[in-house]
Amino acid sequence: MTTSARLDKVIAITGASSGIGRAVAELAAAAGATVVLSARRVERLDEVVAGIVQRGGRALAVPGDVTREADMQQLVARTVDVYGRLDVMICNAGIGYHGIFADTPRDVMRRLVDVNVMGLFYSAHAALARFRTQRSGHIIAISSIVGRRGIPGSSVYAATKFAHVGLIESLRAELAGSGIVASVVYPISTDTEFRSAIKRDFGQDVHGLGPKQSADHVAAAIVDCIRHPRAEVYPYRRAKWLAIISVIAPAFADRLVQKYQRRGTATEADA
Ligand SMILES: NC(=O)c1ccc[n+]([C@@H]2O[C@H](COP(=O)([O-])OP(=O)(O)OC[C@H]3O[C@@H](n4cnc5c(N)ncnc54)[C@H](OP(=O)(O)O)[C@@H]3O)[C@@H](O)[C@H]2O)c1
Repeated sequence: MTTSARLDKVIAITGASSGIGRAVAELAAAAGATVVLSARRVERLDEVVAGIVQRGGRALAVPGDVTREADMQQLVARTVDVYGRLDVMICNAGIGYHGIFADTPRDVMRRLVDVNVMGLFYSAHAALARFRTQRSGHIIAISSIVGRRGIPGSSVYAATKFAHVGLIESLRAELAGSGIVASVVYPISTDTEFRSAIKRDFGQDVHGLGPKQSADHVAAAIVDCIRHPRAEVYPYRRAKWLAIISVIAPAFADRLVQKYQRRGTATEADA
């Protein structure tokens, strides 16, 4: 998927202290990119940056919270101050929640909107302001396969991930011919700290259902999208069929994901 040509880009990544964000930072830096890492856990960012620098890469930590607009503006400003430009903004920071809609507390919905939706809004907005002066740039939003097809127990998380798709699709249409591009990525269940963060934040034990992929696999698909920008990326290619079936035959897709959920529950119980 990736090529060995040097990746001559300055890339800012939110949620780069672990999981997919960290894997993208490390892979892109190894390919020659300059990476600017943002997240709240400063010591984790410093550790990732130190590793990249030790391997001969260029990296900078700009700690920040995606729910604070000023932090996202600072991320872009510091990147431009230090490296003179920003080529790619990867809007990756995100949190999950598992539970049926009827039982979902309002505060949880607000928190997910804050991090997953406002976080995307602030990071994309800050990058876009810079991209418009440069007349070039690439915004990549990390949605989820449940941003294309909701599954039982994921209503509030899915809603925030659908928001990524609507925002990026509209933005892409607005930007046509501008030199600025926007992409959306739909990972399936990925082996990261995502579920331990749910446990930490909401006290829930959640197990990913169905097929799984590694953070490195998702990162490779994202780096490939930086090299060859395109509208949408399904790192697990077969997942695209779920999106297609959902549009053509939504009731059938309902049955599919219900079966899938039951199988998942049975597998968890068996484990
Ligand atoms: N893992 C999956 O199964 C899966 C599947 C589909 C899509 N995704 C999406 O992939 C993205 C990355 O998740 P991951 O799987 O790599 O999980 P992860 O390992 O938990 O990483 C999440 C990252 O987001 C950061 N973050 C959380 N809240 C933040 C905030 N308020 N401000 C700034 N940063 C914040 C975390 O850093 P700090 O805690 O240090 O701030 C961390 O670096 C998310 O958007 C997620 O929805 C994940």
